[in-house]
Amino acid sequence: MPEPKKILFVCLGNICRSPLAEAIFKKKIKDRKIEHLFIADSCGTSNYHIGHTPDPRTIRNAEKNGVDIQHLGRQLVEHDLHSFDIILAMDKNNLYNIHKLPAANEFAYKIKLLREYDTEEPNGEVPDPYYGTEQDFQKVFDILDRSVSELLNNISQ
Ligand code: 4NP
Repeated sequence: MPEPKKILFVCLGNICRSPLAEAIFKKKIKDRKIEHLFIADSCGTSNYHIGHTPDPRTIRNAEKNGVDIQHLGRQLVEHDLHSFDIILAMDKNNLYNIHKLPAANEFAYKIKLLREYDTEEPNGEVPDPYYGTEQDFQKVFDILDRSVSELLNNISQ
């Protein structure tokens, strides 16, 4: 039995984008009956929302799209670079902050932008919806749904 592959989604606050990416990933592996092959988690580069549940607008959006979301905010730590196999940043600012960790050079091969897996717009960013509208939250959902599907196609081969 191979070790489960460990996937980490990273944003700034860990209350909007990355916990939703984690929740979508978990739903997709459950639907595909490949839960035993993966461990998924999320975190923020900031310490703004440590211990907080996801933003109420993210919870509402997840529910609207049939996705269960269960996460408490935590901040990215150096150890994450050692313990996770793939580390996916939501935007270039997150990517920059991940690369500031001392071990980032050694593990640079693990660190990517999630939207590298977006078939419609590879190398784009997942926009921060924090100051946005309900529509912006749905736009984030659609981007994550697309990117996570392709990520999974890629890593479950
Ligand atoms: P996230 O969104 O990075 O997708 O979780 C944000 C959440 C909180 C803040 C900024 C972005 N904030 O400034 O508190």
